[in-house]
Amino acid sequence: MRRILLALFGGLLAASLVLQPGLSRTPENAGPQFTADGKLLRPEGYRRWVFVSSGFGMSYNANAGGNGAPAFTNVFVTPSAYDYFLANGKWPDKTMFVLEVYGSTSRGSINQHGSYQENFQGLDVEVKDESRFPDKWAYFGFSASQEASQAESPGKNDCWNCHDKNAAVEHSFVQFYPELLKLAKEKGTIKPTVHLEDKK
Ligand code: HEC
Repeated sequence: MRRILLALFGGLLAASLVLQPGLSRTPENAGPQFTADGKLLRPEGYRRWVFVSSGFGMSYNANAGGNGAPAFTNVFVTPSAYDYFLANGKWPDKTMFVLEVYGSTSRGSINQHGSYQENFQGLDVEVKDESRFPDKWAYFGFSASQEASQAESPGKNDCWNCHDKNAAVEHSFVQFYPELLKLAKEKGTIKPTVHLEDKK
């Protein structure tokens, strides 16, 4: 009897999870989901993906930056892609990365020094999909609230070009993710055109 009750309870729990609106939109491991007209649905469960690393106040333009508090960027990747990377040092088809942008502050509660993350500012998403995109990788920007996003002028736009030229492994900036960098070095998958040392 106890077993039956447990099974019933489990079933109800599973059904309630599936039926809950919002949770069913983009299941965590489903990979990139697109609308009929090719817009990427905002990835919902990404905070349960694998956390890759964070950047703090990073700027890729020597003349920009320094205005206001620096932002944090938190990078997440789909779990199955992460497992594949551990084994191969490369990314499989349907890999999806999310980069969250958070504003920072140093004043609050008991904090006296250093910075922590405060207000959510937006999501940048990167998808590898060899059948959908002729250039393999595509880039999407979401504001803090927007639900679906068209690839930012799909094809070889600014996002694509910078990632193609400068990222250490395929289109991913593994040079800034210490744990993945170790692995890529072991597997020999760093692009020969990319120089990891400081450019100065
Ligand atoms: C001038 C170069 C440059 C441009 C342009 C650029 N990025 Fe990036 N991107 C980076 C760097 C450097 C990192 C890694 C550092 C970090 O954590 O912020 C990164 C990281 C990312 C990541 C995390 C996964 C990865 O590839 O390492 C995503 C997702 C991403 N960018 C999306 C975008 C999108 C979307 C655009 C266009 C709207 C864009 N990027 C434009 C340089 C660039």
